[in-house]
Amino acid sequence: MYINFWYPIATSDKVTNTEPLEVQIMGLNYVAFRDTKGTAHVLANTCVHRGGALGKGKVNGDCVACPYHGWEFAGDGKCTLIPTQPEDQKVPARGKVDCYPTEERYGIVFAFLGDLPEEERPPIFEITEYGTEGWRANEVVVFEVNAYYQRSVENGLDGAHNQFVHPLQGAPSIIESLRKKPITVDDVPPWGSEFYCAVSDSTSEETKAIGAGEGNTWAGSAHHGPNTLITRIYFTNEKAFRQYFFEAPLDDSHTRIFFVNMRSFMMEPENDQKLIDINLRIAQEDIDILEALDPVCTPEDISKEMLTEVDKPIYRYRDYLKEWDDKGWRIDWQEFIAKRGNVAMTVACPARRTEKNWILDTVPLVAAK
Ligand code: FES
Ligand SMILES: [Fe+2]
Repeated sequence: MYINFWYPIATSDKVTNTEPLEVQIMGLNYVAFRDTKGTAHVLANTCVHRGGALGKGKVNGDCVACPYHGWEFAGDGKCTLIPTQPEDQKVPARGKVDCYPTEERYGIVFAFLGDLPEEERPPIFEITEYGTEGWRANEVVVFEVNAYYQRSVENGLDGAHNQFVHPLQGAPSIIESLRKKPITVDDVPPWGSEFYCAVSDSTSEETKAIGAGEGNTWAGSAHHGPNTLITRIYFTNEKAFRQYFFEAPLDDSHTRIFFVNMRSFMMEPENDQKLIDINLRIAQEDIDILEALDPVCTPEDISKEMLTEVDKPIYRYRDYLKEWDDKGWRIDWQEFIAKRGNVAMTVACPARRTEKNWILDTVPLVAAK
């Protein structure tokens, strides 16, 4: 799990100015709320007074109020009120919690969990067709998986599983072409890679009915950063699904996935639910496999699995993970587990680069190389 990327916190409707929302990501808790202008904020969840959970408190105007002794924190993380303190006394500089850059896209509130300055931050993946003519987006679908998020991303980069895990899904088979032609992985620098595969003629009746196999039928996947997966299925030049999975690791064995499905056909709104149902059925087939993988996490030693030619996209993804390891962005999970419970931790926010006086410890990281 890595700091310095954008993580989906919740769908926009779940972040309100009436009740704070407590969300766990990478083993740590955050609180999300909206101020009176409607701007969403994401802060570390631990109150610096005596450890109250801000997400269990209240939203009061532009602040979130701790449920324990009523300290209030504004959207920038600064404490604005200590109820027991005389009115003419200022809140000490240490009265603040980490505040994370927040953006809303595609109906999702994202937070940048890291301390990089704005110009160095990897971007949220841009869905270029979102909101454009000729494409329709489904409402965001959120689902949870009892598996590690990297295993889930790798599953999306794994072209060879489709035929075996999803025999009835109606997606064209790509096994034949994978067998005939080595797969080529293209870099999409600096944060990801992608691959495409022509699809053989052996498509199901269901996909033939929508024109698959008429030529130019292909499928492909990509990743952006450690936790965004993109799948593209072109049944014909005009009829395509583009699917985006923004993944939030809750810990090392649970993942919350925010799924945006774009389509260029079946545009009628009444198809929305039908397509969600089909996609969730397919996702469940993946989930059944993912939740039974051994080991649960991606093995650090590549020799502990037998990757083959067709697994090249997974190889490339792991290369990227190593690059982010080397930058010192990976959470030292073993140390984190050993420390938690004794000391409150959070991911360092950008303000820590310029300000002192922080109460919470920062999450331990594997040293940069
Ligand atoms: S613990 Fe939050 S106000 Fe005391
Ligand atoms: Fe799958």
